[in-house]
Amino acid sequence: MNQDAACPICNDSGWQIIGEGEQQRAVRCQCFLKKRTERLLQEARIPRRYQHCILKNFKTPKQDDLWVAKGKAKEFVKDYPNVDMGILFIGPCGVGKTHLAVAIIRELMEKKGMPCLFYDFRDLLLYIQDSYNPVSESSEMSVLAPVLKTEVLLLDELGARRPTEWIKETIDHILNSRYNDNKITIITSNFLDKPKEKDQYSLAQRIGNRLRSRLYEMCRTVEMNADDYRKKFKPQGFNIIK
Ligand SMILES: Nc1ncnc2c1ncn2[C@@H]1O[C@H](COP(=O)(O)OP(=O)(O)OP(=O)(O)O)[C@@H](O)[C@H]1O
Ligand SMILES: [Mg+2]
Ligand SMILES: [Zn+2]
Repeated sequence: MNQDAACPICNDSGWQIIGEGEQQRAVRCQCFLKKRTERLLQEARIPRRYQHCILKNFKTPKQDDLWVAKGKAKEFVKDYPNVDMGILFIGPCGVGKTHLAVAIIRELMEKKGMPCLFYDFRDLLLYIQDSYNPVSESSEMSVLAPVLKTEVLLLDELGARRPTEWIKETIDHILNSRYNDNKITIITSNFLDKPKEKDQYSLAQRIGNRLRSRLYEMCRTVEMNADDYRKKFKPQGFNIIK
C-alpha cells in the first residue's frame, strides 16, 4: 500500500477490485472517471456562456416543441452509442437550441466518457480559411483532424455565414468523412427548411442542396418553435431606457 497515494480506494492505479471469489472483477475507480470527465470537459471547447447548460436546467413547463426536443435529447443520451444518427435542432433565436445541444455533449462526456467537441460554424469557417494553403489549393487536413476525429461534433449555428463554394466543399468533406466513419454530429441552425416568411432563407439556400441532402442521412431534424427565452427572462427593468 502506497501511503502517499492520492486515492485510498485504488492506490492510484485507476482500478478497483469489486465482488468476492469468482465474481471478483476490476472496474474503473471513481477517481479515474472524475479525472477523465474533467479532461474531456476541458478539451471540448464549450464556450463559457454555455457552460451551465445541462438537461436538468432546461425548463419545459408545457408539453410543446421544447418538451419534445428535450425528450429527444434525453433519449439520444440514453441510447448512445447505439444511435444511427445525430440531431439537427432547427428554430428561431433564443429557443434553447444551443443549450440542448451542449447538454447532450456534456452528458455524453460525463456519463459515457465520450470525447466531444463544440464548434461554432463561423469559427470553423475561419479555422478552415486560416489553414488554407494556396500552393496545394486545399486546407491543411491535419489542422482539421480533431474536427474529423472526435466521437461527437457539435456544430453550432450552421448556415450563420454564407459559405463560398470552396468552403462548402470543405464542410461537405468534413461531414461526409464523419458520416463514413459512423461518427455522430449534432447541429443547430436558425434556418428552417420551409421558412415562415418570404424574405427568409431556407437552410438549403444557406448551405447548398447537396449538404442539406447529406444532413437528412446524418441527423434527425428536431424543430423547436417557441418564444425567445432571452426576452422572456430578461431581468426586470432591463428595458426602461427610452
Ligand atoms: N427552456 C430553457 N430553460 C432554461 N434555459 C433556457 C431555455 N431555453 C433557453 N435557455 C437559456 O437562454 C439562453 C439562450 O438559449 P440558446 O442560446 O440555447 O438559444 P438558441 O436557440 O441557440 O439561440 P440562437 O438561435 O440565437 O443561437 C441560454 O442562456 C440558455 O441557457
Ligand atoms: Mg444557438
Ligand atoms: Zn481511485
